[in-house]
Amino acid sequence: MPASHRVSVSAAIRAVLLESDPRAKVMAARKVARDWRLGRLAFVFDAPMPEQPGRPEAPELLPPGQMPRRRKAGSERGRIALWHAIGHIEFVAIDLALDMAGRFGAEMGEAFVSDFLSVAADEAMHFALIERHLHRLGSHYGALPAHAGLWSAAHETRHDVAARLAVVPMVLEARGLDVTPATLERVRAAGDERGARILQRILDDEIRHVRFGANHFADVAKRLGAVNGELWKVLVSRHFRGTLKPPFNDSARLAAGLSRDLYHGVA
Ligand SMILES: [Fe+2]
Ligand SMILES: [Fe+2]
Repeated sequence: MPASHRVSVSAAIRAVLLESDPRAKVMAARKVARDWRLGRLAFVFDAPMPEQPGRPEAPELLPPGQMPRRRKAGSERGRIALWHAIGHIEFVAIDLALDMAGRFGAEMGEAFVSDFLSVAADEAMHFALIERHLHRLGSHYGALPAHAGLWSAAHETRHDVAARLAVVPMVLEARGLDVTPATLERVRAAGDERGARILQRILDDEIRHVRFGANHFADVAKRLGAVNGELWKVLVSRHFRGTLKPPFNDSARLAAGLSRDLYHGVA
């Protein structure tokens, strides 16, 4: 198909970001990744990314301080709360990956778009697996309130790809590598083998996501003539409000291209 007849990749991504129905967003995110892979979308950036992505009416989004306290981990309600919280993270992660590709793809190039659209497809699959698990537990996404803060990291770094890469894949997704193994063990210990397999798959995929982030960040640092680790520390201290706290999953982080001397001692 000649380029002029194809839909622009940015218009296709924008449409998925604006989709508010979770299942429709999952299908659309996987479709845009597939269409891009098959050459059906043009490398053209003529559509702006929305300030806020589409969100369903439920879950209600609450500021972090107003989230109800987690129930006891072993109880049925505690299990549902855990999967609901992870499901929400995966749902927002779809939009984080789409926004990365659609907002910064023009300056970063086609390989960058390919990487982050494949991440968006992974996140859509993660969300779908968790939604199915929630149904098995007699619940669904939207049944509980969810954390409103997850999009703010994207919003705050919308003008700078280096800052976005430093904070979203290299801090937030890397944090997932640290905490997921313990959650997985708890889930397995409670006898939820299916849930443990879902978390193992997520963990494996997230290593790849962090690696994409670290690799593209290194490219940007090189282009700017900056020292990779120094630039990362400056951007994290400027744009990330939390603290980087141990314990770190050093082996998963290393597999993702984050060396210990990068993140140890950063607070
Ligand atoms: Fe994920
Ligand atoms: Fe991810």
